[in-house]
Parts: sequence; C-alpha cells; structure tokens
Amino acid sequence: MKDNIQTNQAAVSVEGVSKKFGAAVVLDDINFSVLEGETLVLLGASGSGKTTILRIIAGLETPDSGRVILHGKDVTELPARARGVGVIFQNYALFPKMTVEGNIGYGLRLRGRPKSDIAEIVNTLIELTHLEEHRRKHPSQLSGGQQQRVAIARALAYNPEVLLFDEPFGALDAQIRTRLRREIRALLREIKVPSIFITHDQEEALELGDRIAVLNQGRLEQIGTPYNVYNKPATEFVATFLGAANLLLGIVNENRFEAEDIFLKIEPDPKIRDGQSVKLVFRPEDVFLRRPENLTQNYQPLVDGIVEEVNFVGAFERVVVRLNISTRPPILVTRPKSETTVFPLEPGVKVPVGLVRFRILPNYTLASERAARVI
Ligand SMILES: Nc1ncnc2c1ncn2[C@@H]1O[C@H](COP(=O)(O)OP(=O)(O)OP(=O)(O)O)[C@@H](O)[C@H]1O
Ligand SMILES: [Mg+2]
Repeated sequence: MKDNIQTNQAAVSVEGVSKKFGAAVVLDDINFSVLEGETLVLLGASGSGKTTILRIIAGLETPDSGRVILHGKDVTELPARARGVGVIFQNYALFPKMTVEGNIGYGLRLRGRPKSDIAEIVNTLIELTHLEEHRRKHPSQLSGGQQQRVAIARALAYNPEVLLFDEPFGALDAQIRTRLRREIRALLREIKVPSIFITHDQEEALELGDRIAVLNQGRLEQIGTPYNVYNKPATEFVATFLGAANLLLGIVNENRFEAEDIFLKIEPDPKIRDGQSVKLVFRPEDVFLRRPENLTQNYQPLVDGIVEEVNFVGAFERVVVRLNISTRPPILVTRPKSETTVFPLEPGVKVPVGLVRFRILPNYTLASERAARVI
C-alpha cells in the first residue's frame, strides 16, 4: 500500500523494504512516511514485524531490499550511530548506578562534549521532562513513569532527528500505561520530534498516533488517521484487529447490499461490481436497537432480532442479538448508559436492528486478496 505523502516533505520514509530471516518473509514491501513533528503508530500482533522495521530504520538491521530516507537523505548504508535516530526500547535499561543527570548526559560524555555544554543540555532536558526534583536520584528511586521520562531525555540528548519507541510501556500495568501515554503524547507534541511508536495495544494506538499504520504478518494493511482506520477499515483484518466488528456476508446489487432478507443502500464504489461477494462490516457501537425516532444520524434498518444476552460491563452494556434468520451468527451490540436507562433490554425481547454506520469490503479469500491487491 502506498502512502500518498511525498517523500520530500517527510522526516522518515521507508520505501519498498523487505526482509527475510532464513526462508521466512518477515517484511514484505513496506512503504510509509512520517511527517515532521508527527507521531506514527505501528500497530500489529506479536511477530508481525514491528521491531524489525524499527531496527531497520535505526540501522541495527539491514533490509534485503528497499531504502530508508531520513530528511531526504538515503541512510540505508549508514551505520546506526551516524543516523541521528534515538531509540527507546521496552526495557529502557537506565544505568542503575548513575543519577538521573548522569543517565541523561551519558551519551554526551561518551562523545567528549565539553562539560559546560553537557550541563546546559541536561538542564534543558530535565526541565522539558519535568524531572527537576528527581535529578539527583538513582533509577531505583523513581517510579516507572519517571524512569520512562529519563529514558526519553537520554535519547533526546543526542538531538535526534527521529525518535523510535518500541513498546515502552509493555511491562507496566494498565492504569500507569494510560497515564504515561498522555504524558508522552504531551511531550511529543511539545518537542515536535517526528516519532514512530510501536504497540500492539489498539487503545494506545488510537490515543497516541497522529496516524496509525496497521501491520499484518509483514505487510502494511492500512495507514491513516485513527478516525479513518477505525471507522473506515480497508480490510477485514484492520476491522477486527482495531476493535470489535460484526461481519455479514452478502452480495452487491444495484448499489444495495443484499443478504437474504437484508437490504442496505450503499454508496457506489468503483472497486465493487454488481453480483460481487462482499462483507458488511459494522462496529458494536454503530448498531441501534430501537426505532430511530429522534435520531439525527444516518440510519438504515437491518432486520429484526432477538436479544440473547445482556451484560453490564461498566461504562457500557454489551448485548448479543440474534438476527431473525437463525443460521447467522449473533451480532454484538454495545449501548451507552444514556440508552440503557431509557430503553432497558432483557433476553428474549424482539428488537428492530438498525445501523448508523457500516463498511462494505470485498469478500476476498486470503490468498486471492494478496494476489489482487495493488501495491
Ligand atoms: N534475528 C532474527 N532471526 C530470525 N528471525 C527473527 C529475527 N528477528 C526477528 N525474527 C522473526 O521475525 C518475525 C518478526 O519479528 P519482530 O520482532 O519484528 O516482531 P514484532 O512485531 O516486534 O513482535 P512483538 O510484538 O512480539 O515484539 C518473528 O517471527 C521473529 O521470530
Ligand atoms: Mg517487537
């Protein structure tokens, strides 16, 4: 998939990068760009090739083919230390016997920078990462979040052109992750250094990324804003990996989606022909379970259904609904509190099922999907 951003405005461009380890294809023709000041999230399951992409950008791994361009310069052949890339790994391994100041200035001392320069840069970074009261502490005396900020300050000391994060919150619990994510987002906004952030956590991806690139088994499935990737998934993989999605098989006929007793008006799509087998994809929160009296959004009735299960899950309610042809798998619906209070549901109740948003995707089998896809 081509990113429609021109290489010459990009801070980082990965062009046609492929990589095998032995016989295994780990990256297959990867193309994407990161703009100045932008945070791109690389999202994919374990083993999909995320770290390998990062290592190739950083110069810690060589691609079999393709190029890495940083600010217009081809760095594919350059060694890691000549690239100006700062990397923050999952175990950001601070030096335990050094203070916060010592850790941040370490790389500068190694490069023989004058003491006064080092002191000035370290001061600026300590201020930027709000570590003033911790500057003389050792890593063991810091919280996970504070250690994370030291690791970022240490990477920033080199004045990197690009920052790469490889699942830096992997080892931390959910509550801390959420807080750190916000802190890092604010920091990245402030320093405006273009960055690539790896995660396999969809919520993290949606919250942190200016854009998200979804990786599946070494291939880029889609790249776009969090809004577009979530609401307009280009493939079934993206739809199901990024949140829950309901799928119904059908065909397209004269700008309608048809599946037995279901008919939905759809936008004409030049990629889809009449008679073509397609999938209707819709998210649990885009289903509406009553007549849309005062609904201002687009709404189309799907078919009637029977409520099978109602589960309270904190912030919202999860409802399982069987559509009226019993051979279909049941669909999942989520309802906000505003809806559950005025319109309570219980198992066995018959409800009208309608959609406020959906996508139509071609129903490729996996192999033909690969062959047919234009890269
Ligand atoms: N040096 C190597 N030699 C052989 N195979 C490797 C090597 N490095 C990575 N791989 C393989 O390449 C694939 C992609 O690995 P990679 O580390 O990029 O995945 P990842 O997306 O970062 O996964 P995770 O989320 O688990 O960190 C995996 O199947 C892995 O086993
Ligand atoms: Mg990894």
